[in-house]
Amino acid sequence: MKDLSNYREEYTMGALDESSVPDDPLLLFDQWLEDAITAGLPEPNAMTLATVSREGKASARVLLLKEVRNGQFVFYTNYQSRKGEELKANPGASLVFLWLSLQRQVRVTGIVSKIPESESDAYFAVRPKNSQIGAVISPQSKPVKNRKEIEDAFYKVFEETKQQEIKRPKHWGGYQLHPETIEFWQGRESRLHDRILYSCKGDKWTIQRLAP
Ligand SMILES: Cc1cc2nc3c(=O)[nH]c(=O)nc-3n(C[C@H](O)[C@H](O)[C@H](O)COP(=O)(O)O)c2cc1C
Repeated sequence: MKDLSNYREEYTMGALDESSVPDDPLLLFDQWLEDAITAGLPEPNAMTLATVSREGKASARVLLLKEVRNGQFVFYTNYQSRKGEELKANPGASLVFLWLSLQRQVRVTGIVSKIPESESDAYFAVRPKNSQIGAVISPQSKPVKNRKEIEDAFYKVFEETKQQEIKRPKHWGGYQLHPETIEFWQGRESRLHDRILYSCKGDKWTIQRLAP
């Protein structure tokens, strides 16, 4: 393997100070997401979701954030997937956003629940048809014999539903993560990075600086 010991960047693009951050971390999150979009980053709404199984085994994967609504982070997936099973057993989860070219990371921890079915229906209805079919036919995270099995299932539904609307399958829908902590990380020179941690107590946020 390539020697990685000399790969390192100096982080000098920004700073984060507890005296000037907003009281509400969702305002700062909104600003940082907006900055990532404005900077033209690919998939600025991509995030890593970490879950933990009933047996205490962790797993992580990348998803797309679709909305922050009423202070909750909303994403869509298959309820019977590995992550779906893990969230059923253990709703505690964590999100990580990495906006590398802005030298920024956001970490969120909290509790996940399903969004109302009517909201999943509404979002499913505006997805492109091919994505709808994918959601219908894919037993996400389950082993399949080969690619042909999935493609055959896709084209079968594609042919059957040419003139029809596709209804959201019950196994697919949205989750919302209710944040308990949100940490903003801004890379700084000499590895003296800024870390500002917001923790939710009741309905109030407290702010602390963490050591880098
Ligand atoms: C950029 C990117 C975006 C993704 N967005 C989603 C998504 O929004 N929903 C989803 O279910 N999977 C998404 N995936 C696929 C997941 O990473 C993962 O493979 C899948 O959800 C199965 O995960 P699981 O087996 O842990 O449940 C995305 C992958 C990438 C790389």
